[in-house]
Amino acid sequence: MRHLIEPFDFTVAEIDKILDLADEIVKDKEKYQEACKHKTLATLFFEPSTRTRLSFEAAMLELGGNVLGFSSAQSSSAAKGESVADTIRTVCCYADIIAMRHPKEGSALVAKNYATVPIINAGDGGHNHPTQTLTDLLTIRREKGRLNNLTVGFCGDLKFGRTVHSLIKALSRYENIDFVMISPEELQLPGYIREDFFKKNNITFRQYERMEDVIGELDIIYMTRVQRERFFNEADYIRLKDSYILNAEKLKMAKPDLSILHPLPRVNEISTDVDSDPRACYFRQALNGKHVRMALIMTLLGINI
Ligand code: NCD
Repeated sequence: MRHLIEPFDFTVAEIDKILDLADEIVKDKEKYQEACKHKTLATLFFEPSTRTRLSFEAAMLELGGNVLGFSSAQSSSAAKGESVADTIRTVCCYADIIAMRHPKEGSALVAKNYATVPIINAGDGGHNHPTQTLTDLLTIRREKGRLNNLTVGFCGDLKFGRTVHSLIKALSRYENIDFVMISPEELQLPGYIREDFFKKNNITFRQYERMEDVIGELDIIYMTRVQRERFFNEADYIRLKDSYILNAEKLKMAKPDLSILHPLPRVNEISTDVDSDPRACYFRQALNGKHVRMALIMTLLGINI
């Protein structure tokens, strides 16, 4: 039985296969409309979500399967003090596959240890978000036609942003990626990524504080929200929340074929005057999230058609 807890749970070849299947599903939707008939996906969301949960549910419904679940910890027995382990043991009696989001780092790993069905990590605290990574890889491949030879800028909250942590790991396995980190000092990548990951694997990256100093070199800019819910105090959040705002004016300095990605939700970090720019990919990215989750669900359930 396979699970998806972190990006390295799949090889590059397996990821390519999932992205290929996502493309295939878009080309021939009818072929897949009953692929998951009589199968049930449970979405267990202990943290807020719009795109991740709804794209998982839309994905399963479009594959002809069923969905059940909860969308907040308050409406589950977690509010009564139930452990993740017991919740998972229970939901495994009702579902064939589980997507779970939880505020605690490592919770998905705990879930996997108690599961008798495939577990998908839909975000564990500030740690990983591997299905957003699949979404991002599919988006880069669709927009750029490749996953190598790219200068990729990550901008904003690189400390708490789990989407950044997972995408960095995934991209490190492709050839010639120039990693550019743009953040205030307080929101730089956590030590375990800088030391245990970049350094140990001999991967170099550049660090900037000002977006303007490097935007002109980028093929991709991955904007992120400052993760308010993971700050220890509100004053720090308020001080840092508007550190970077990408707007039409700054985009004048960028390459004509820059791709602007954002996992969403955005708060202020991308001005709405960017939305109509063809370089803005973030709503296409949200759609890609549904396609890639369809491919992922089929893969983990072992359904080949
Ligand atoms: C992200 C998340 O939950 O980590 N959203 C998402 O899943 N698309 C990013 C965020 O919350 O800022």
